[in-house]
Amino acid sequence: MLNVKNLEFKYRGAKGNTLKGIDFNIHRGEIFGFLGPSGSGKTTIQKVLIGLLKGYNGSINVFGKERKNIGRDFYEKIGVAFDFPNLYLKLTAKENLQLIAYYYKKPPQELDCLLDRVGLLPDKNKVVEGFSKGMKMRLNFIRSIMHNPTLMFFDEPTSGLDPVNAKIIKDIILQMKSEGKTIFLTTHNMTIAEQLCDRVAFLVEGQIALCDSPYALKLKYGRKTVKVDYLEHGKKGTSEFGLDLLGGNQRFQEIILDREIISIHSQDASLEDIFIKVTGRELL
Ligand SMILES: Nc1ncnc2c1ncn2[C@@H]1O[C@H](COP(=O)(O)OP(=O)(O)O)[C@@H](O)[C@H]1O
Ligand SMILES: [Mg+2]
Repeated sequence: MLNVKNLEFKYRGAKGNTLKGIDFNIHRGEIFGFLGPSGSGKTTIQKVLIGLLKGYNGSINVFGKERKNIGRDFYEKIGVAFDFPNLYLKLTAKENLQLIAYYYKKPPQELDCLLDRVGLLPDKNKVVEGFSKGMKMRLNFIRSIMHNPTLMFFDEPTSGLDPVNAKIIKDIILQMKSEGKTIFLTTHNMTIAEQLCDRVAFLVEGQIALCDSPYALKLKYGRKTVKVDYLEHGKKGTSEFGLDLLGGNQRFQEIILDREIISIHSQDASLEDIFIKVTGRELL
């Protein structure tokens, strides 16, 4: 679906390249996440992929063609949402959607239905100027998918949203995946990445430091142990055991059989731990 090789990009006037030789593939029906701290190049790569920033080196093969050689019909097939909502502030929510719908050849999805999906139906006739950041983000999001694209680019899709609204957006993204759509997203939020992405790439200073599924990364970098909290003679105890031959471990058996268990957790690494371990950076 999207095949990127040795991608480099330099802003005019900048000293060096902002993207420094990036390689990755995204398969059809996959959610692929670019993770990285602020300033690592996430927004830049999205803008280069969709053609908003021109003049890259290397190759971006998308829908079977080189990005540079694809005409305007590219925009019929892709959906794009940036982390800053760019909307017509003097128009209502619904008018914003209606206006953008004119740009596309295909008729849009049912607008009221989309508005309802993100909780904006009661506000559809209000001008966007008075919307909160979260309302604008939600409107911006449905605007990006209303023409039913097959490949989506979402830049920090849940930034500025409260947990309830973030979940609404996450659910829509997962539903689109289940319909076979392909999704590229960027985030500096590891929880979002873990919940949504089939694979993630860690981006640091314009380079990919690591790329794999969250599950594989957690197994590879996690401690292969299980931690058990239990009550023993009225006091809380904690023990950690290696996963290898766990069933044959006598102390483990004794605790499981005779103590009141409070909790049992395998000690997987979080994506955040892995990011810090691999890149030596925090995700701020
Ligand atoms: N228009 C621009 N001109 C020059 N440099 C830019 C421009 N936009 C972003 N940059 C620089 O490119 C780097 C990556 O920025 P960006 O892609 O916005 O990172 P992220 O989205 O990961 O926070 C930063 O060092 C930023 O200062
Ligand atoms: Mg950004």
